[in-house]
Amino acid sequence: MSHEEQLSLFGREPKAEPEVTAMQFETIPTDANVAIPSGTYSDIDALANHCHECQRCGLGATRTHAVVGKGNPKAPIVLIGEGPGQNEDEQGLPFVGRSGELLDKILASVNLTTEEDVYICNVVKCRPPGNRNPNPDEIEACKPYLLEQIRLVDPKMILLTGAVAVKALLNEKRGITKIRGQWFEWENRRCMPIFHPAYLLRNPSREKGKPKWLMWQDMQAVKAKLDELRQAEES
Ligand code: URA
Repeated sequence: MSHEEQLSLFGREPKAEPEVTAMQFETIPTDANVAIPSGTYSDIDALANHCHECQRCGLGATRTHAVVGKGNPKAPIVLIGEGPGQNEDEQGLPFVGRSGELLDKILASVNLTTEEDVYICNVVKCRPPGNRNPNPDEIEACKPYLLEQIRLVDPKMILLTGAVAVKALLNEKRGITKIRGQWFEWENRRCMPIFHPAYLLRNPSREKGKPKWLMWQDMQAVKAKLDELRQAEES
């Protein structure tokens, strides 16, 4: 038996990632039919360059800034919101309005910071006019950017804040109130749906059993899991 035949007994070569040609790469931000295969971007900055010139859906025409993400690009937690609102569109950063202020407090309540522990982004990178929900075509056009962000950050866990983020990533029919606080597995990653801060702003009671109290339970579970994983890594 030749060496090649011997080696072939070990099974097939893994399939190589599809190569993105220079031409395909250039047309990514202009045509939603051009795929963005896993491995297209070498880092978040390269991805952000495309987002800033992107017209893959109609939202590109009305945005002030594309909002890519903020926080530690090597964080153990990726938190995914819905899409930029007016403040985020103006400043080019996610969660800087009232929802963002509350989100900062929620993270701080369990000693999580964007400097170290969390990278924050959204399902769609451009503001839907009037803060309407992004439509399925817009989500589809933008989703490969999100998938690349997750691949590049490579988090230990993903927090899906609100129904739009849950729907975009998990094929889950149940509403957020039913599934919040539960761990799901998505592409070998732990994933938890949590309430959206905007929902908590509309439901301010902190009484036991109310949304804010439930969020507090969920965040404690997230922090406990993160501590457990960090300890396991150290030992
Ligand atoms: N709501 C979101 O879902 N994302 C933001 O960036 C701001 C508000």
